[in-house]
Amino acid sequence: MVVWTDFERATIQEVFSKIDAASVGQQALTRCLVVYPWTQRYFAKFGNLYNAAAISGNPKVAAHGLTVVRGLEKAVKNMDNIKAAFAELSVLHSEKLHVDPDNFKLLADCITIVVAASLGTSFTAEVQAAIHKFLAVVVSALGKQYH
Ligand code: HEM
Repeated sequence: MVVWTDFERATIQEVFSKIDAASVGQQALTRCLVVYPWTQRYFAKFGNLYNAAAISGNPKVAAHGLTVVRGLEKAVKNMDNIKAAFAELSVLHSEKLHVDPDNFKLLADCITIVVAASLGTSFTAEVQAAIHKFLAVVVSALGKQYH
């Protein structure tokens, strides 16, 4: 079981209550698809992902980015049992979507970067450490089905 400090709990709750979920989701998924272009293969049905402008203007990317953040909010609400909360999502990503689990960490890094840009100077080293730990637990829970 993951042990969270009071600071980590408070920080994760606060960050997710502060951010604009739609904007962070859209920007993070856009970055993932631009920076790691092999991730585009899973989103063939999203249509035009031809270049960075097409990706960032694609409404399906925006909608799915929000879905991802809603998923993270579920983890925030279930911080003491993220593995159970993500059990179905892990099965979906592995058995149905066949997503290479290395990509979870790449999207997590994009989420960190977008949250950092959105929080500005309040994104201290301690806040980054808390978010890093939270996302590492999320990535591990999503990858559970692969082990
Ligand atoms: C679907 C969350 C990483 C590919 C989903 C859904 C959620 C989600 C909540 C919707 C599930 C449903 O409809 O029941 C997450 C989270 C991630 C993550 C929290 C990591 C932080 C990834 C990565 C990829 C990916 C890295 C591929 C590179 C997909 C695809 C779908 C999906 C293709 C289905 C989209 C559709 O059919 O509309 N994900 N995901 N996910 N995810 Fe992920």
